[in-house]
Amino acid sequence: MKKVTLAGVEVPAIGLGTWHMGEDPSQEQREINAIRSGLDAGARLIDTAEMYGSGKSEALVGKALAPYQRDEIYLVSKVLPNNASQAKLESHLDETLHRLQTDYLDLYLYHWRGSVPLAETINELDRMKQIGKIKAWGVSNFDVADMEELWELPAGKYAAVNEDLYNIEERGIEYDLLPWQDEHHVPLIAYSPVGGKQNELGTSMLTNQVVREIAEQHDVTPYVLLLAWIIRNGKTIAIPQTNNSEHAAANMQATKLELTPTDLERLDQEYPKPNHKVPLAIN
Ligand SMILES: NC(=O)c1ccc[n+]([C@@H]2O[C@H](COP(=O)([O-])OP(=O)(O)OC[C@H]3O[C@@H](n4cnc5c(N)ncnc54)[C@H](OP(=O)(O)O)[C@@H]3O)[C@@H](O)[C@H]2O)c1
Repeated sequence: MKKVTLAGVEVPAIGLGTWHMGEDPSQEQREINAIRSGLDAGARLIDTAEMYGSGKSEALVGKALAPYQRDEIYLVSKVLPNNASQAKLESHLDETLHRLQTDYLDLYLYHWRGSVPLAETINELDRMKQIGKIKAWGVSNFDVADMEELWELPAGKYAAVNEDLYNIEERGIEYDLLPWQDEHHVPLIAYSPVGGKQNELGTSMLTNQVVREIAEQHDVTPYVLLLAWIIRNGKTIAIPQTNNSEHAAANMQATKLELTPTDLERLDQEYPKPNHKVPLAIN
């Protein structure tokens, strides 16, 4: 199984996204089943955020995890920019922990940059780590200039990860950000691996003829093939979101799928690598 090391902990390269989960009470059991199906198929990392359903996603994840040992799970949540200050961050983390029914996070991410000075947020994240409420912290929706600014801060280099949008149709970060992250040993968590919920972007990727042919050769769905492409280098974790238990289990197949050099060349021809700076894609 393909794994990635995050702040010294090895986790399978496919995790579970949870955006929009917990918002519709009639879907609760279906969503809980999907999370458990993914975990039972080998997933360990769960990605949530205080923003998702204003805490409802975290609460749902807390319920879904009740039958599991806490240390079997790698739990990631995120603080909103407006709450990432010295005055507010710790109390928002406490609320997140309460909803998740746990006393620590494995990873706490600064969801995206806002008006609080970066140094203040990073000091607070680092303090949460020192007092044991989080094991590690990282950032999300950061581009190269943001990472460089982060690296200038005394604790900046302790950032465990950057979580950004990345999929075969949105390869812009391969031009400069991913080389920067490689050089500085910062793994990527890739969100929106098929470009989000049933939008045109995702649809076109999933129906692309070359994607379909290569998927067929490997006896997987186009969705699983696209996940395998994202995690191909051993430094990236993809966090697909699904309410469907079968999809959640199937997505784990991507951790066992090795794409051949010919597959990769064909996909590069279809979806070329960037040859210039591209503005960071955000969902
Ligand atoms: N840090 C950030 O700013 C940020 C931003 C956006 C997202 N995220 C995180 O990334 C996660 C994933 O991104 P996303 O929710 O935008 O979209 P996504 O995972 O790219 O797409 C979700 C869609 O994929 C479908 N799907 C999943 N597995 C499938 C399979 N095996 N076969 C067919 N369809 C499948 C789901 O439908 P079904 O339910 O029918 O399977 C759902 O409609 C989020 O849940 C969230 O945790 C983070």
